[in-house]
Amino acid sequence: MKVAVLGAAGGIGQALSLLLKTQLPAGSELALYDVAPVVPGVAVDLSHIPTDVKVEGFGKDDLGAALQGSDIVLIPAGVPRKPGMDRSDLFNINAGIVKNLVEAIADNCPEACTCIITNPVNTTVAIAAETLKAKGVYNKNKLFGVTTLDVIRSETFVAELKGLSTTSVHVPVIGGHSGTTILPLLSQVEGVNFSDEEVASLTHRIQNAGTEVVEAKAGGGSATLSMGQAAARFCLSLVAAMKGDNVVEYTYVETNSDDAAFFAHPVRLGPNGVEEILPYGELSDFEQNAKQSMLEGLRNDIDMGVKFVNG
Ligand SMILES: NC(=O)c1ccc[n+]([C@@H]2O[C@H](COP(=O)([O-])OP(=O)(O)OC[C@H]3O[C@@H](n4cnc5c(N)ncnc54)[C@H](O)[C@@H]3O)[C@@H](O)[C@H]2O)c1
Repeated sequence: MKVAVLGAAGGIGQALSLLLKTQLPAGSELALYDVAPVVPGVAVDLSHIPTDVKVEGFGKDDLGAALQGSDIVLIPAGVPRKPGMDRSDLFNINAGIVKNLVEAIADNCPEACTCIITNPVNTTVAIAAETLKAKGVYNKNKLFGVTTLDVIRSETFVAELKGLSTTSVHVPVIGGHSGTTILPLLSQVEGVNFSDEEVASLTHRIQNAGTEVVEAKAGGGSATLSMGQAAARFCLSLVAAMKGDNVVEYTYVETNSDDAAFFAHPVRLGPNGVEEILPYGELSDFEQNAKQSMLEGLRNDIDMGVKFVNG
């Protein structure tokens, strides 16, 4: 198994690479690529950790070499938010970065599963899809927007509120990855009841949890450590599924539903990426209304990505 991290010298990239160095199965390879000159140093640093995962750093002119033979490519490259910014404010810089990196994936490892972390995810995943289509190598089963951070945040906040162990709490989160497009399905959390007030305030907190971190870091960036953990969980689930395990994760994928072209669903992962997109089940009235009022915004975000590539 070869995993490439593009943007590996950044806040997310380094946390994620550390977790993968310590948790990927023995015999795996980890390729770290970044335009920042520190990336070979990050690779050397990680290589001193005694696990059977081979780490190699690749500088800005070696993207092709980093990608060749990759089974999974994780993309956290790009700029993060500062206080007062919305994820869509990142579009101007990050759209071009994602397009260029995905073109290189098409040229060097078109069969790889591509996992997009770079914001705005609602749009950058559509950019990746259109870029792969233009190259003639798009496989909708192998492109993922990583929304796992919304899931782990929801699980933490629900466990905190209800005094439960985080290991026993599972919260479905559907939709997109920005503001109201993030839709936690609190009505489906097994064994837990919420008052209407709790549903409203928890939903709001989950939708704005990224901003909580951005403000607390006061100009120093956005979530990196929790995102590293979230991306590592998603990547390790994909690795396990590729080896034959039955794994379900919530992730932003192309769907055939009426909701939007891309929508986070529970997805059964398998050796070829998406094995099956599972239904998200019945929504409460609150969730149904929240979904209806965010769909137009999500569709616009997706259109923006399609237009960025196709004009
Ligand atoms: N999906 C999510 O849930 C989620 C959560 C938090 C942050 N993010 C997003 O992840 C991205 C990265 O955040 P961060 O905090 O790690 O930022 P960061 O600035 O710490 O790191 C970004 C890294 O990307 C590198 N980079 C820039 N252009 C590149 C290119 N063309 N090729 C390769 N590398 C390149 C930079 O050199 C830097 O090392 C941001 O867009 C942020 O909004 C997503």
